[in-house]
Amino acid sequence: MNTSNGQSHPEYRHLLGIEGMTATEITALLDLGDRYLQHYRDDAQIPKVLKDRTQINLFFEDSTRTRTSFELAGKRLGLNVINMSVASSSIKKGETLIDTAMTLNAMRPSALVVRHNASGAAALLSQKVSCSVINAGDGSHEHPTQALLDALTIRRRKGRIEGLRVAICGDILHSRVARSNIHLLNTMGSRVRLVAPPTLMPPFIENLGVDVHHDMREGIKDVDIVMMLRLQKERMQGAFVPSTREYFRYYGLDADKLAHAKPDALIMHPGPMNRGVEIDTVIADDIDRSAIQEQVEAGVAIRMACLDALCTGSLENTA
Ligand code: ASP
Ligand code: CP
Repeated sequence: MNTSNGQSHPEYRHLLGIEGMTATEITALLDLGDRYLQHYRDDAQIPKVLKDRTQINLFFEDSTRTRTSFELAGKRLGLNVINMSVASSSIKKGETLIDTAMTLNAMRPSALVVRHNASGAAALLSQKVSCSVINAGDGSHEHPTQALLDALTIRRRKGRIEGLRVAICGDILHSRVARSNIHLLNTMGSRVRLVAPPTLMPPFIENLGVDVHHDMREGIKDVDIVMMLRLQKERMQGAFVPSTREYFRYYGLDADKLAHAKPDALIMHPGPMNRGVEIDTVIADDIDRSAIQEQVEAGVAIRMACLDALCTGSLENTA
């Protein structure tokens, strides 16, 4: 796996972003994640390939899904998992991010899972520590394991990723999920459309090889996948939408807008959802169309695959 700055650490492999990863590397992780998901569904014994090694979760931003699933993933592989509580750590006494990471590194973990509100935080740490670093979300930059779990969900439901039309809708500007998904879906041969009001669309984003739409009905016309995003209010300074009510009217996914997508279009959302803001509650809970709970399940399997691949070096020869 490449680091996001295009360099590979000579001894330790990191997962810092999807950008720069090859289709072969992505496919290898999806295949491994698929096997772990099937093992789990079959209630099969999962080999503790990382027994007695240590994983430290270092989350500077709130999380329900990512932190819990990384913890479960590590434990299923036999890792000792430590969740460092940032709120009660010496960061409150002024210790820096780098000093914190170097302190944890001295305890010789195999993997450090980091979420931070600054873009590039995980990449910075990867240069300072001697273990694998996994980016669990850095500012509005990347959330690579989210894109991988989304891809696994799509592949299981649709049988392929290549050739699908995927609409990513909502607050693209502040979304690391959107960025990681754009890189992954483009690499895997999907056709990506972005749908957002002009205020929430990053300038020049079409340079990434995506189609840009401001009208939701046009944007999701005939797509196979509708991926909805939350308004990332924690990253907004000032008002980006007139009101959430108006936002829902024009950009919220409801039955009327969804009717423009393919009849079997899959509905996805990384979570957490704000019902009635970006997605109607009936649509979110539609068990035939919505893959939201499957995304969460795939999250544990894909994180097992990433921990396994990085800590054992099992994907070294796939690049
Ligand atoms: N949970 C995802 C993230 O951390 C998406 C979101 O928060 O809306 O990026
Ligand atoms: N999708 C996602 O990253 O969820 P959390 O913020 O709850 O971890």
